[in-house]
Parts: sequence; C-alpha cells; structure tokens
Amino acid sequence: MAEIVIVESAADAGGLVADEIVRLVRTRPDAVLGLATGSTPLPVYDALRSRLSGVDVSRVRGFALDEYVGIDPRHLESYRNVIFREVVEPLGLDPARVRVPDGSLEGIAHAGDDYEAALADAGGVDLQILGIGTDGHIGFNEPGSSFASLTRVKTLTAQTRADNARFFDHPDDVPMHCITQGLGTILRAKHLVLLAFGAAKAEAVAGAVEGPVTASLPGSAIQLHPHVTVVADEAAASQLRFADYYRYTWAHKPEWREL
Ligand code: F6R
Repeated sequence: MAEIVIVESAADAGGLVADEIVRLVRTRPDAVLGLATGSTPLPVYDALRSRLSGVDVSRVRGFALDEYVGIDPRHLESYRNVIFREVVEPLGLDPARVRVPDGSLEGIAHAGDDYEAALADAGGVDLQILGIGTDGHIGFNEPGSSFASLTRVKTLTAQTRADNARFFDHPDDVPMHCITQGLGTILRAKHLVLLAFGAAKAEAVAGAVEGPVTASLPGSAIQLHPHVTVVADEAAASQLRFADYYRYTWAHKPEWREL
C-alpha cells in the first residue's frame, strides 16, 4: 500500500519531498529524477533550490513525463521550456542530462520508442514526481489508458484541456495531443511520489489511493507499485476514507524508515 502523508500546506509537502530527493542525490550522485510539470510540483522545485546548494548535482539526470505535440518549441508553456525554466536552471542541473519527450511533428512516429530507449539507457527513474489530473490522469495518461502502456501519443480530454487553459492565452490554444510516458513506463520507476493539493483533486486522490484499480482512473495504477508515497494537503485528502489511519501511521512512523 502507498504511504499517505497528509500535510498542512503545499510548502510542507515541497519540503518533505525535497528532503527525500536531496537524500537520494547524496547517496546516488547520478540519480535519475522523473520530473512532472504543471502547478503541483512547484513547491518541491522551490524547496530544492536552497536544499541543493552545496550538493553536487553535476551528474543528476532528469526525464520529464510528457510534452504537448506540435507546440512551438519556443512557446513559454512547452514542457521543454517549463522544465528548463522551473527545474534545470534554478537547480543548476546539466541541461544535457535532462530530457523531455520530443513533441515535434517530424519524428513523432518514433519519439515514444526513442524516449523509452533513453530511459532504459539511463537505468530507469529512481524517484518519479507525479501530479494528478482532476480526471485521474497521471502523466497525460487519460482515462482508459492501458496499464502496460509505454511512451506514446495521446489525445487530451476536454477536461484536461480546460484545466490547462490557464497556461495559455486562449482555451483553444491548448494542444489537442500530447506525448506521455505510459502507465507501464511510470510503474517501472523505483519510487513514485504523487502530490496533490486542493479540493479539486480530492475525488481523483481518493480514487487513486482507495478506489478499484481501473484504467478508468489511471492514477489507481499506483496501487500496483511496491513503493509509493502520496503527499496531499487536507483539501486533497478530504475524501480519503482511511485518512485517520494514514495520519496515525505517519505519526507513529519509526525513525529508521525512510519515505
Ligand atoms: C504534468 C503531468 C500531469 C499533471 C496533472 C496535474 O507533467 O504529467 O499529470 O501533473 O495534470 O496538473 P497540475 O499540477 O497543474 O494540477
């Protein structure tokens, strides 16, 4: 079962996860981080800035979860630009060691296979940061995605396009297609860390953690993974049936156990 940590604020969540990432990088200087975009992981990246100063990150590698297909690579909201702006530059990572799926139309037919090969070459992701969509997606694996899926092109749901419209000048500007790591890809990471904040995520979080394992709620795939940490604020955790047990478990966590 996933470890569920209910925190007071997104900043608390960011600190907790950042501490874990620093621990990982200190023990494994060439750690492979799975990077998410969107609003949710920002407190983690913020918290990492101060925590990583003085830590050698020159060998750290990173793989983004997804990218829009056909987006102008110079667009501020292409995930390539977001990852470089929010993660690579502020944390001082080596840009050559950070990859984002290639969403350009030329080569899209083999972009998924290329990405899988690069992930395999790197030895897989050590710690994968995940957000969750209001429709339950992780990565951009929309409802119905196969649990065996690998990196490939998907069509975004109308709900996801509406949710992401805030990043674009006009809702119609949100691309229709994306290239995303599959659920099968994500499940290969050694440690999944799913973050969720706000009441809009409560239903998806409850479904992912406690609902039936179903492709209709792709986030429920985390129940198939042996090492998952879910960090949610009170609002996002508000529909969890066993929330009291999760709080009790966290409060009594032995010091020798890591996240
Ligand atoms: C982003 C990603 C998505 C987001 C999800 C939540 O790389 O893979 O699954 O994590 O759409 O988005 P936010 O965090 O903006 O609410």
